[in-house]
Amino acid sequence: MRKPIIAGNWKMNMTPAQGAQLIEQIKPLVADAKCDVVVCVPFVDIPAAAQALAGSNIGLGAQNLHFEPKGAYTGEISADMLKELGVEYVIIGHSERRGYFAETDETVNKKVQAALDAGFTPIVCVGESLAQREAGGWEAFVAGQAKAALEGLCEKCVAKVVIAYEPIWAIGTGKTASDEQANEAIGIIRAAVKEMFGDAAQEMRIQYGGSMNAKNCQGLMAQDQIDGGLIGGAALKAPDFATIVAAASATVK
Ligand code: 13P
Repeated sequence: MRKPIIAGNWKMNMTPAQGAQLIEQIKPLVADAKCDVVVCVPFVDIPAAAQALAGSNIGLGAQNLHFEPKGAYTGEISADMLKELGVEYVIIGHSERRGYFAETDETVNKKVQAALDAGFTPIVCVGESLAQREAGGWEAFVAGQAKAALEGLCEKCVAKVVIAYEPIWAIGTGKTASDEQANEAIGIIRAAVKEMFGDAAQEMRIQYGGSMNAKNCQGLMAQDQIDGGLIGGAALKAPDFATIVAAASATVK
């Protein structure tokens, strides 16, 4: 039985003070959660978020890291820097980073390695564009992204990785993959992981992301392959985020 994980990806929203306030609103609403709950906040929000989250059941995540331990990489942030601030999760290879900041399967793989070495739980994003879905072959593309991200990992480490299937056409568009589409894609990703790592694929948690919200979360969470969600817009509203956490909790026996 895989424990569902609901993670908020705040993207470039919320100042440190606003973030702390949002966390104070979320905390009481998710205190009884039976799933893992995480907020992935902007780098500069991390200290205030860590303070607000202290003693709660909500994990702290970042939205990126650099794969090198230190050095002349102006503007970048290392795993050690994040670790010292209490970070436990890190989103890697979000489509916005791949699309706007030239991240590749290769850098994603290096970042996954660096995150695991630091003891973080990586949340690795994969997903096809609308053009890819319409042209066909999206299944192989998404499976390939997942395999590339996990290249060279040990079988024991792989089970710790979380993958988020985020079809680009569903991100921030209000257009969600149907329950069946999301379940199918996640099943394809799990099969790809199984080809590489065998039974570890059954332990790996694979989330859906892309306009998941308080209205559609129940249907998505009811799917057998879907182990949670990576939530953008709806994670910025405490009641909506809490509703999604409750939907995930309800699937835990
Ligand atoms: P939205 O939920 O706003 O579509 O964003 C999804 C996402 O990109 C989470 O990482």
